[in-house]
Amino acid sequence: MAKSGTTWLKALAFSIVNRNNHSVDESPLLFSNPHYLVPFLEMYLYKDGNIPDIDAMPCPRILATHLPYQFLPSTILDCSNRRIIYLRRNPLDVFTSWLHFVLQNGFASRPLASDHCLGYWNASLKDPQKVLFLKYEDLKKDINSSVKKIADFLGHPFSAEEEEAGLVEEIATLCSFENLMNLNCNKEGEIQTVFRAKHNSFFRKGEVGDWVNLVPPSMANRLEKLMQEKFGESGLTLDIHGNSV
Ligand code: A3P
Repeated sequence: MAKSGTTWLKALAFSIVNRNNHSVDESPLLFSNPHYLVPFLEMYLYKDGNIPDIDAMPCPRILATHLPYQFLPSTILDCSNRRIIYLRRNPLDVFTSWLHFVLQNGFASRPLASDHCLGYWNASLKDPQKVLFLKYEDLKKDINSSVKKIADFLGHPFSAEEEEAGLVEEIATLCSFENLMNLNCNKEGEIQTVFRAKHNSFFRKGEVGDWVNLVPPSMANRLEKLMQEKFGESGLTLDIHGNSV
């Protein structure tokens, strides 16, 4: 979902899957904003009525989307080798991040709602081999385990030798907030998809719980209640103070 750490997940997935093509020292991430390396379907590949031939794109194909699960194109859903990773984040932090993002880039829009999340959540319960549901807060808590989990899920597990050589940590560091935000390719320039956005607007604070600086407690409590009602029966719960389960 937008403002849930998509840029981070793109960097991680790209680095994990392409680690035999590029060493960490020579990663294309050092020169390109992650959104160029992992393009969005609806905001880039399919924009302006374009119908891309996804099957003709070189493998491994890593694509991104903010579309709800039920709107994914059949080229994706019918592909037997597809793997989908969904990244969820505390909605209050998403809201906070989104507000800063639109203010910085000067456009008006609103973040997506809970149904977006539930579509992927239900798909991950139904078919855990194909859909991996991750939480931003869990990546922040333990990025090394998350890197390994993503690699396993994508069918690119780390070998014992790679782990011993510290490759998991190297990839985690390469994709860390501090590293990416300080690269020139992310400090300068802007991306033009269906909208323009400054590269640096994708790297703001990268923290869990920054919503406390924006959302008053009474509103947060109301939203928490609303989320419990929405997510109640799904098994997907969230404590706004960051302890998602
Ligand atoms: P904040 O605005 O709370 O700082 P998206 O990539 O989906 O647009 O999400 C952007 C959010 O992810 C921003 O959150 C941004 O700072 C954070 N982010 C970007 N890269 C990150 C990274 N490598 N590690 C942790 N958070 C990151």
